[in-house]
This record gives sequence, C-alpha cells and structure tokens, in this order.
Amino acid sequence: MKPISERVKEKPWLGWLLFFTTMVVVFLLGLLASSIVERRSEAVFAYTPQVEHERWEPRHEVWGRSFPHQFERAMATRDTSFRSKYHGSAHWDMLEENPRMVILWANYPFSKDYNQGRGHAYAVEDLYATLRTGAPVDGNDSPMPATCWTCKSSDVPRMMNQLGPEAFYAKSWEEMGHEIVNPVGCADCHDATDMSLRITRPALIEAFERRGVNIHEATHQEKRSLACAQCHVEYYFKGEGNYLVLPWDKGLEIENVIAYFDEIQFTDWVHGISKAPMLKAQHPDYELFMEGIHAQRGLACADCHMGYISEGGLKFTDHKVQSPLNNIDRTCQVCHREAERELMQNVYERQDKIFEIKTRLEKLLVRAHMEAGKAWELNASPEEMEGALMDIRHAQMMWDYVAASHGAAFHAPIESTRILAKGVEIAQNARLKLSNILNSKGHTQPVPYPPIETKARAQEFIGLDMDKLEQEKNRFMDIVVPKWLKMAREREAEYPVNNL
Ligand code: HEC
Ligand code: HEC
Ligand code: HEC
Ligand code: HEC
Repeated sequence: MKPISERVKEKPWLGWLLFFTTMVVVFLLGLLASSIVERRSEAVFAYTPQVEHERWEPRHEVWGRSFPHQFERAMATRDTSFRSKYHGSAHWDMLEENPRMVILWANYPFSKDYNQGRGHAYAVEDLYATLRTGAPVDGNDSPMPATCWTCKSSDVPRMMNQLGPEAFYAKSWEEMGHEIVNPVGCADCHDATDMSLRITRPALIEAFERRGVNIHEATHQEKRSLACAQCHVEYYFKGEGNYLVLPWDKGLEIENVIAYFDEIQFTDWVHGISKAPMLKAQHPDYELFMEGIHAQRGLACADCHMGYISEGGLKFTDHKVQSPLNNIDRTCQVCHREAERELMQNVYERQDKIFEIKTRLEKLLVRAHMEAGKAWELNASPEEMEGALMDIRHAQMMWDYVAASHGAAFHAPIESTRILAKGVEIAQNARLKLSNILNSKGHTQPVPYPPIETKARAQEFIGLDMDKLEQEKNRFMDIVVPKWLKMAREREAEYPVNNL
C-alpha cells in the first residue's frame, strides 16, 4: 500500500476530504465535551436545595425533599442485617459477649449496659433505651447532663444556636429530652444554602483553635474526615457545667491524652473494687485513624464509609454510613485490585491479632482490680496504694483507647498494638506493686479470679440490681419518651418549610 502523502499528491480532492472529515469530528467532539461540562455544572447546581427551610432544620425528611437519593440512603442506616466478624450494624450485647468489661467498669454506668453501635438512624432511640442514661421521670434532674445528647442528633446545632453551647451543656439530659428527637442528620454535616460540608460542633472547633488551627480553613478532603470527628473522638465533660472538651491540647496520641488528664487531675469515676481513679475512653476513632497508613496517604473517613453510588448516570455519595466490609466493591476495591475475600482477610487478620492482645490486657486488669480490692481489705493505706492505682488508671485507659475506638484494629494496627503492649507492661507493674503490698500484709495466696462466666454473674458480683434498673427503664420508656415525642411533633409542625 502507498503512503497517504503520495496518494494525496495523486488525488488532491482526497486531501480536502480528509481535512473536512477531521473538522467535523473535532466539532462533534467539542459539542460532546461542552455537554459534559454542562452536565457537571448541572450536578453542582443540583446541590442547591429545592425546598426552602431554616438553616437549623433538624428533620432529615425536609432536607430529603431536595435530595431524595442521599435521604433514602441515610434512612437505610436503619438496616441492621450486616454483621462482620467484630462489627456491623446488628444489635448485640457487648457485656454478654465479654463479661470482663463489667468488672473493668465496676461502679460506672457502662457496667450496666453496653451494646455494639448501630447505624446513625438509631442514635437517639438507643440512648433512650440504654440503662446508662437511667430513668429520669421528674422533668428536671437526671443522672446524665444534656452534654450526652451532643453527638446524637441534628437537633443539637439548633438548640446550641438557641441557647449557646454553655447553657446547652449545663442543662440536664432530661430537660432537653423533648427538644432532641431527630438522630444524626443532614444539619450536622451540611450548610443549608449550598450543601457544603459544615462543622457544627463547638468542641471540635475549639480543640483545633487551642492547637492554633482554624478548622474552617481545612481542605475539602480534610472536611470529609472532620465531619465525622465532630462525634467519633475522645472527649470529657469539664467542670460543673459539663462543658464538652476534647483533651487534645498536648497532642492526639494516648500519652498526650493521659498526660492532659493527669495534669488537670481529671477522673471519670472511682473504681468499685480497686478504688483506682479511672479514666473512660469514649470513641477515639479519628485520633487513631490519623495514626494509620490510610490517613498518611490522604484518605478520609468518607472514602471507605461513604463510597459512591452510580444510578442512571447520577453519581452520589452513599449516605448509608456503615462498615465498608458490607460493600467492598464500592469501598476498598475503588483503590485495591485484590479479590473481596482477600481484602476481608486483611481486615480480619489485623483484628484477630489485636483482639488477642487486647484480651490478655483485659485479664491482667481484672486481676489487678481484684488484687487492689484485697489489699484494701487488708488495710493497705492510700499512700501504699497510690502507685499501683495510677498504673491501673493508665493501663486501663490504654486498653480502652483501643477497645472503644471501634475501627482502630484496621485503621491503625501498628499504633493499636503499641498501645496495648504498653498497657500490658503497665498492668504488670501494677500487679508487682500489689503483690509486694499483699506480701507485706502476710497474704501470699493468689487472689481468686472473680466468677464472671456470664454478664449476669459479673453484674451480681459487683452488686448491681439489674431487675430494678430494668423495671425503672421500662417505666421511663412507657411514660416519658412518648411525652417527649408528642411535644416535639407539635413544635415541629410549626417550622416554616416552603416548596420553591
Ligand atoms: C455524617 C455527615 C453527613 C450527614 C449526616 C449527611 N451528609 Fe451529605 N455528605 C456528607 C459527605 C462527607 C459528603 C461528600 C462531600 C464531598 O465529598 O463533596 C456529602 C455529600 C452530600 C451531597 C452532595 C452530593 C453527593 O451525593 O456527593 C448532598 C446533596 C448531600 N450530602 C445531602 C445530604 C442529605 C439530604 C442529608 C440528610 C438526609 C445528608 N447529606 C447527611 C456527609 C454527611
Ligand atoms: C453527630 C454525631 C455523629 C457524626 C457527625 C457521625 N457519627 Fe457515626 N455514629 C454516631 C453515633 C451516636 C453512632 C452510634 C449509633 C447507635 O448505635 O445508635 C454512630 C455509628 C457509626 C457507625 C457504626 C454504624 C454501623 O452500622 O456499623 C459508623 C461506621 C460510623 N458511625 C461512621 C461515621 C462516619 C464515617 C462519619 C462521618 C462521615 C460519622 N460516623 C459521623 C454519631 C455520629
Ligand atoms: C481505608 C478505609 C477506612 C477509612 C478511611 C476509615 N475506616 Fe473506619 N473502618 C474501616 C474498616 C475496614 C472497619 C472495620 C469494619 C468491620 O470490621 O466490619 C472500620 C470500622 C469503623 C467503625 C466501626 C464500625 C462498626 O460497625 O462498628 C467506625 C465507627 C469507623 N470505622 C469510623 C471511622 C472514622 C470516623 C474514620 C475517619 C476518621 C474512618 N472510620 C476511616 C475502614 C476505614
Ligand atoms: C482511596 C483509596 C483506598 C481505599 C478506598 C482503600 N485503600 Fe487500602 N490503601 C490505600 C493506599 C494508598 C495504601 C498505602 C499503600 C501504598 O501507598 O502503597 C493502602 C494500604 C492498604 C493496606 C496495607 C496497609 C498495612 O497495614 O500495611 C491494606 C491491608 C489495605 N490498604 C486494605 C484496604 C481495605 C481492606 C480497604 C477497604 C476497607 C481499603 N484498603 C480501602 C488506598 C486505599
């Protein structure tokens, strides 16, 4: 075959034909490109709500009128069918599964009731139901402050705007009950005018401020994690007014957090058996995630917990926030080519190994609490006990920092292992000190391990009257909760909503 240049020399019209054909193709490509760009700007435009409502509108269904796809998936967090090896959206009793925790939390509300976390749609009703919030019925006092509502509901930004955060925290949990009824929702993470990501919780903004960072200047990708860090972080209630504070002033690592609490001599509770001045970790998911390889490579929580869905040419963020193992094809496999089974195995392998060392530390802590209890029985003095009790405080906080950070075994396996290993050493130090004290009192037998084969036996051992607690709770659920919900419905009926 002759080269094209020679053929054009022989037949000049062929050159013109080629020229015009190319022009037409380029023109058509241009049209296609411009239509794609238009679609894109349409997509951005689609983030403007079609239904006008207040900035503080707490109801998902009202925002959902403009964004049905996101709304529908957010509601799908009601699905409780998924259970992976260690996590998932199903409801199960963590104390039943692991009665050692009852001993570790003796004299603290967590020893009464602790369940696996479910989807966001349950955040409010699970808080009603847990025995930890008690059964307040008089309309004023309750065992918990309103601060407990902070990470449960899209009514919180609304109430904080109305009262100011300080006055909000200072109320009792019960006083706010009829105001806080919508679970984690749109208003927690989005601006009502353009749907951009918005940080609504003052504690996170203030924690960054004290570290010299203006959170509102965070990049878009950072906000895809910070939206979650509003709630999935370690915190404590400061002072009489129960002001919510993240203990990050010295840094986010466990040593920084413990040093912070030691310096201000903060104690969550005094342990029922050992009398140690204890710390309770909440759920430092963000802190530990930041220590792992995925954070170091710039991933955000939403990359794995809120993958994308494509539906009829429309691509949107999956608002069914859940374990990524329930949809590996839209989470891990966006970046990794390995088969689903293999990726699952990668996760389970890390979790299994960390679970093993976590369990060892738990057993040491149970023993240390029992040995300290025995030493008190034998009239040890507070001065003698102090060193051992501080060790128990620190070792249990290390255990809890990993145990309560629900994804940590995968998010940051190396840091989790380091923390637990350090906890084991400190718990052993406590037991050495206690062994010396016990010896000095003439007690040379091993202190028996408590009878904690089941949750019920463990709770009986620490002296909880579960029947009474449950009866009180049932009464609260029957009488108080329906009253709150009725008041909320009447109030909400008056909010302005305009279809544009
Ligand atoms: C826990 C935080 C959170 C909550 C609650 C939440 N969103 Fe989102 N939303 C996000 C994140 C993260 C993105 C992704 C933003 C991005 O990367 O641009 C997003 C994106 C969006 C977008 C942009 C289009 C898209 O799908 O990417 C819309 C619209 C939206 N959300 C609507 C809603 C509605 C409606 C609700 C309530 C039913 C809601 N969101 C609740 C975090 C949240
Ligand atoms: C306003 C507070 C709040 C925000 C913001 C928030 N969460 Fe949650 N999250 C919760 C609460 C509370 C629960 C437990 C609900 C329950 O068990 O009733 C929870 C549960 C979860 C669960 C367990 C659900 C399951 O089905 O296994 C995951 C995973 C999760 N959140 C991830 C995220 C991610 C990722 C973000 C950010 C995109 C985020 N959360 C933002 C409060 C929040
Ligand atoms: C690289 C992917 C990835 C990223 C990014 C990621 N996670 Fe996870 N997360 C996981 C995996 C995998 C699990 C374990 C799920 C299981 O065992 O079912 C998990 C578990 C969790 C759980 C417990 C879920 C449950 O069902 O109880 C929470 C809560 C959570 N992550 C929150 C976060 C938060 C908050 C961030 C950001 C600070 C984040 N994750 C970032 C992959 C990720
Ligand atoms: C947005 C991209 C992205 C997503 C989504 C993602 N990863 Fe990764 N993953 C990475 C990157 C980047 C690394 C670091 C490896 C590197 O840089 O070579 C990594 C590393 C890993 C490693 C090795 C880390 C180690 O501990 O040594 C494992 C295992 C892994 N990912 C599993 C998963 C699983 C399981 C999921 C889903 C739950 C997931 N990844 C989701 C990008 C991603």
